[in-house]
Amino acid sequence: MDYKLTSFSEEDTKELAENIESEKFPNMVICLDGELGSGKTVFVKGFAAALGIDENITSPTFNLIKEYNSGEMPLFHMDMYRLTDPNNVEITDYFNKQGVTIIEWPEMIEDYLPAERLDIKIKVVNENKRVLILKPYGEKYEKLCDSVL
Ligand SMILES: Nc1ncnc2c1ncn2[C@@H]1O[C@H](COP(=O)(O)OP(=O)(O)OP(=O)(O)O)[C@@H](O)[C@H]1O
Ligand SMILES: [Mg+2]
Repeated sequence: MDYKLTSFSEEDTKELAENIESEKFPNMVICLDGELGSGKTVFVKGFAAALGIDENITSPTFNLIKEYNSGEMPLFHMDMYRLTDPNNVEITDYFNKQGVTIIEWPEMIEDYLPAERLDIKIKVVNENKRVLILKPYGEKYEKLCDSVL
């Protein structure tokens, strides 16, 4: 089952991230799919703040993956926009490091994504309005969506 939500502000998107964070578990994977400026990094910032991460979250554009360890659980933030060769990056290692992985531009690593994960598609409606479609794959993610949405 898919879940559809409307976000009317950056704060709404952060609130969704906080709600999902409250149901976190080790090795959780969230894929954020949406055009440039749709709010993917905003979501990651909301999630990181809820984890208690005190560092500033910036898009890992050139290093592709950033690791934050100051929160309740490690956070691995991937931005695959500039990925040239998936074989050069130890992407799948991160899915077993007992942290949460959030991926921007997941289509770049489609073949490497775990079967069980939460996909969030962000559609830009206008300047501040976004439609978010959540699609859980696997029982844990279905339960997660059931309890937060
Ligand atoms: N409802 C909303 N949810 C999230 N962001 C919003 C919303 N309305 C407006 N914004 C604005 O849209 C921008 C989203 O920027 P953000 O960096 O998160 O995009 P992105 O999807 O990560 O882009 P990129 O693909 O370049 O990394 C921010 O300036 C934010 O304030
Ligand atoms: Mg971004």
